[in-house]
Amino acid sequence: MEVKILASESLGVRSMAVFVRTKDLALLIDPGAALGPKRYGLPPDKIEWEHLGYLKNKIRALLREEAQAVVITHYHYDHYDPEWAKDFRGKRVFLKDPQTNINRNQAKRAQELLKRFASYGVFWEIAEGRREFFGETEIIFSGPLTHGPEKRFGSVVAVVVKSGGKVFLHSSDISGPVEEKALQFIYQQEPEVLFVDGPGTYLGPRFGQDALKLARKNLVRLVEELRPACLILDHHLLRDLCWKEWAEPIFEVAERRGVKVKSGAEFMLQKPLLLEALRRARYKKTTQKVDTSLIPG
Ligand SMILES: [Fe+2]
Repeated sequence: MEVKILASESLGVRSMAVFVRTKDLALLIDPGAALGPKRYGLPPDKIEWEHLGYLKNKIRALLREEAQAVVITHYHYDHYDPEWAKDFRGKRVFLKDPQTNINRNQAKRAQELLKRFASYGVFWEIAEGRREFFGETEIIFSGPLTHGPEKRFGSVVAVVVKSGGKVFLHSSDISGPVEEKALQFIYQQEPEVLFVDGPGTYLGPRFGQDALKLARKNLVRLVEELRPACLILDHHLLRDLCWKEWAEPIFEVAERRGVKVKSGAEFMLQKPLLLEALRRARYKKTTQKVDTSLIPG
């Protein structure tokens, strides 16, 4: 099984887009990417916009030309692009249930997407709780898992791909996991490669200190007890330049247990590019440049 992380915070944008290829199936999970509209009170700069365009083109090309099945884990624009509805034609499309266990904002976006799907003749299926076989490749979907520490953000669906004795688990926006149900689902599946978002440490008290502690405790537990070959942490957690310091206890256990802990970029053998987290630093640099040029001669 080949797992390619196409876009994520460590690759410079908000996303958890992944392409999985097995001998039976080409699967695209969460085909979308976006930018943080305001970080440190600052909008994205040209570097971020250009990078977003580059990565979105790559994702869209895979959606159009390669993917046989597509999953949308929830209705946030860093996980899908409604403008691409036409490109889903002729594929198996698995969607987070658009009506149940969903908040109002996402339910509205889901209906807009379904309208577009209908106009292009795109068929879709509810993902939650499903188990599907494509040849010898098995895909399992979780039930609804809470989006982060609070129920008001609705829920997401996790995806498991099993092929040739390997198990890959993608769980978007579970913010940790903080929820016991999400943790238990991961345990049950025994993934060899586990890709989770990690909590939004950059939000600090807005995320909740207790929830942050719980997320770290759960990640330590997963490494200690489940021992996947590789734990990939990205998305919310990689909006924080100090993510490795926060994750220190996870790295310690991982070292003892022989578990690799990586960002998406590192998993893809690339240098992490935390463009959003570095936004303020880039703005400062630009301002300084302008200031120096104004100093008279
Ligand atoms: Fe997200």
